[in-house]
Amino acid sequence: MPATFRKSALLLSLMLSPMLGLAQAQAASQPSPTALATATGIPHPAVIAHRGASFDAPESTAAAYKLARDLGADYLEMDLQRSKDGVLFALHDNNLQRTTDVASKFPERKDSPANEFTLAELKTLDAGSWFNKAYPDRARPAYVGLKILTLDEIIDIAQGNPQHKPGLYIETKEPKQFPGIESDLKDKLQDRGWLSPAGSKLAKSDLAVGQGKGKVVLQTFEKSSLELLQKEMPQVPKILLLWVGEGSIEPKSNVTFAASGEKDKAAYYAKQEPKDKAEFEKWVDYAKAQGAIGTGPSAALTKGGDQSYSDLVQPWMNTFTHDKGLLVHVYTIDEPVDYKKVMDAGVDGIFTNRASELLKYFKRPAPASVVQLLEANGY
Ligand code: G3P
Ligand code: CA
Repeated sequence: MPATFRKSALLLSLMLSPMLGLAQAQAASQPSPTALATATGIPHPAVIAHRGASFDAPESTAAAYKLARDLGADYLEMDLQRSKDGVLFALHDNNLQRTTDVASKFPERKDSPANEFTLAELKTLDAGSWFNKAYPDRARPAYVGLKILTLDEIIDIAQGNPQHKPGLYIETKEPKQFPGIESDLKDKLQDRGWLSPAGSKLAKSDLAVGQGKGKVVLQTFEKSSLELLQKEMPQVPKILLLWVGEGSIEPKSNVTFAASGEKDKAAYYAKQEPKDKAEFEKWVDYAKAQGAIGTGPSAALTKGGDQSYSDLVQPWMNTFTHDKGLLVHVYTIDEPVDYKKVMDAGVDGIFTNRASELLKYFKRPAPASVVQLLEANGY
């Protein structure tokens, strides 16, 4: 937020306080979410390609990230981990079983955390074939043998298309397993020129995201990691991810999934809600106090499924967050019915596995079809 705007907003808030009450005056003092996003260099609404274009290609691989970039997504999202020999790489799960052939290459270590493998070992794994088996209708021979990517390689991809340079939306994943990862990340981003002050010239152009001041967004569920990220990179926008459960917002009911009698996790999570209003508000207040520019709440999906969680984007929640001067980037939405639902509720950006669909929904057509772009990249 520009300093002059902040000053006049503060004055206005002080003048209004006696008339409106403090909360309303605070709300009245905040710029609109669009203005907040623009001041931070973040597109509004933002298209965040969750693990790349991971509906159409194996998550967190070059095929998924190149496709998301070429479709025109604003950000390439990734979950950051560190190998045994200290290299930063992208992988969502704690271990390698679901998305690689670790069970055949390293049978005795198949359940080991990914961080117990050296980069050379990780690079021997096939991170693409699982996708062909799981989604035969989207399978492609060229996905066989795709590799786990380092952060360096994802940066190369983000910089690789002169027509569109997306930003990076980086989550410190299970950061307590990786002491010092916030500092390692800072060093890498600095080395690669991703922490340099942004030029203002391109601020409104199509190329701006990957070059402007919102070119990196940092995200985490962990309070301690948010604090370390803020200490290491105070100038970089940060999002506190939210969900209802252990380590995050306390639930109203402590009945476990196993004891709940629900048939699937989506049904269970759909009924989970914050203990009370104050519990939700406490987390938003914490995010603000630690310097975050927004929150990343979960959502309940119309179709359910394993990415459907508690509905933390109810209109009152988004209004409360906006009134604090924070943005809301919701995860992880893939269907038009849910795009509409969360946009109507007031969110400012969406994590999606289907960047092509979300761009279509926002009437930001991609330059070519998914298949054409995959083929152009050799997949
Ligand atoms: O980072 C936002 C969203 O990705 C959080 O969920 O488990 O997919 O990393 P997860
Ligand atoms: Ca993530």
